Amino acid sequence: MSIHSRHWRRQALFLMLGLSLLLGGSLITYQIMDRENAVKVDPHDQNQVEHGQRVYDQLCAFCHGKELEGQPDWRIRKPNGKLPAPPHDGSGHTWHHSDDTLFGIIKHGLVPPYAPEDYQSDMPAWGDSLTDEDIWAVLTFIKSRWPEEMQKIQEDINVRAQRQSR
Ligand code: HEC
Repeated sequence: MSIHSRHWRRQALFLMLGLSLLLGGSLITYQIMDRENAVKVDPHDQNQVEHGQRVYDQLCAFCHGKELEGQPDWRIRKPNGKLPAPPHDGSGHTWHHSDDTLFGIIKHGLVPPYAPEDYQSDMPAWGDSLTDEDIWAVLTFIKSRWPEEMQKIQEDINVRAQRQSR
């Protein structure tokens, strides 16, 4: 075997090694990221659901309803042009959004990218009064009240949203 081909073989070996390290590394990151999201919002985690229910009863039920039923005629704008509070149970459209979008709306309110610039809304931003854990918990509580079928559909919306953000 010539010196040249031995040299080439060693380079190929290093290249393969590098590639497999890269692949293994990104697989591990991918799994950790998936797991992190699962911990953030797990509707079967009873502690998180109870934490979220306390937040909801104190701060959200006033507008979104004790049973998450929303305000009457929530699809019709009020005389001042603003929308009433929508339900958060399966009859509303909360479950049409990804976890990250819902988290952003609760934390920042209906500002871009969640609503047009200067959008007028009664939905407050909660970022100053709630921690991120509180916000994930209240979202978990809301999700725990959706029928299983809707939880599954929303899970697909999450996967799609995550793929787009990568
Ligand atoms: C003062 C009344 C009020 C309170 C209190 C309130 N909201 Fe809202 N919320 C609204 C209104 C009104 C909207 C619809 C706004 C719009 O579309 O203009 C809304 C919309 C939302 C949306 C978007 C739903 C969707 O499908 O687009 C989420 C999520 C939400 N609220 C969560 C919460 C959470 C969680 C709390 C408690 C921490 C809370 N809200 C407290 C009035 C309120």
